[in-house]
Amino acid sequence: MAAVKFPKGFLWGAATSAHQVEGGNRNDWMEWEIETAKRKVQSAKQNPPAGGWSDFILKNYPNPLQEENYISGRACDHYNRFRQDFDIAKQLGHNAHRFSIEWSRVEPEEGKFNQAEIEHYRQMIQALRERGMEPFVTLWHYTLPRWFAVRGGWLAADAPKLFTRYAERMAAEFGNQVKFWITENEPETFARHGFLTGDRPPGKRNIWQAYRVLKNLLSAHLLTREAIHILRPNAQVGIAETQVFFEPFDKSPVNRLVLRIVKWWRNNPFIRHFIANSDFFGLEYYFHTRVRFNPFVSKWGIQYNENKAVSDMGWELYPQGIEPLLAELNLFRKPIYILEHGLADAKDSRRAWYIKESLKQVGKALAQNLDVRGYFHWSLLDNFESNLGFWPRFGLVEVEYKTLERKIRPSAWEYKKIIDANAIET
Ligand code: BGC
Repeated sequence: MAAVKFPKGFLWGAATSAHQVEGGNRNDWMEWEIETAKRKVQSAKQNPPAGGWSDFILKNYPNPLQEENYISGRACDHYNRFRQDFDIAKQLGHNAHRFSIEWSRVEPEEGKFNQAEIEHYRQMIQALRERGMEPFVTLWHYTLPRWFAVRGGWLAADAPKLFTRYAERMAAEFGNQVKFWITENEPETFARHGFLTGDRPPGKRNIWQAYRVLKNLLSAHLLTREAIHILRPNAQVGIAETQVFFEPFDKSPVNRLVLRIVKWWRNNPFIRHFIANSDFFGLEYYFHTRVRFNPFVSKWGIQYNENKAVSDMGWELYPQGIEPLLAELNLFRKPIYILEHGLADAKDSRRAWYIKESLKQVGKALAQNLDVRGYFHWSLLDNFESNLGFWPRFGLVEVEYKTLERKIRPSAWEYKKIIDANAIET
């Protein structure tokens, strides 16, 4: 008997984002990458992970001690090879696929749209449809056109309006081919890294600005959803946000209080408004944190995990977090798609286990009648991981960056078995 059965019509796939796979992008990130590459090599040398960089990571190209690692450059050349990559996804049994449109390509100058780039994305959507994969289209996954960044980026008062104009155009162009739209990817992550820790563009450290950016991102989401619905009343418009599974380390009132504060910000202070004003919620699950306030145990004094299993990036692998998160999100009574979930695992030694155990947790949620409708693994391909570069290997498919050759990892076939059965057998 199957351990878990998934509902008929459940969507299975993987996700990517434009800047992380396409190659040849000219946006605010590309400039930042060139500016910061040297510094990042220094920092990788000075602050290696606990136990040092493994030989396995160092023998891959590019590795964290090389500048090329930190510049997205031609990335996976997915821009030119998307058909081949979608053939692979089809071969792996996927019936849906999430990708993003690179805003800086389709609107390279303020208010001027590039028709050739629009055609490119039309072809991508068609290529998915021809292969029987439902497209999930993200309108914004972190990167910005230069002109938008220069005039203040997401801090500018009219930023939501400008984003909506772009989104509206995309819906007008592709609305008859695309049902599922994701307005923004992880607004909180963007605000935190760009405006609190300052380790991603635009590299600011100002809590008020972070807050303002998040508010603007919320307005942009609301306006965009409205605009898409006017053009395409049947479109499903949602938001993708990462949610950390938080637990208090113990029952102490201090830890519980600190948990509330950290959770309020980290899981997005406006999450209720985002979800309430969405047709579905896109859950991204990567982290588990046991909150313990003790400045002596960790840098921030707020975290203590068991770390029985970790990814190559040191992130704890904790499949058990998915089910309680889904249960909590059910309060909003919206359909949920898991739009990202995965791990950096160059040796592919834990990916199959992680996918299966996590999907068992999804099964538990389904057994409680929670409305989960799809799962997209992060990622289809190895790709450029924001400020860390190429060395973290998130792909179901390995990319050999020297030759750009694709190699399907064994875990991708294990995932396919689950997809084919629409169930987990053991
Ligand atoms: C982001 C991706 C990123 C992944 C792994 C997600 O939060 O949306 O762009 O590659 O995490 O860090």
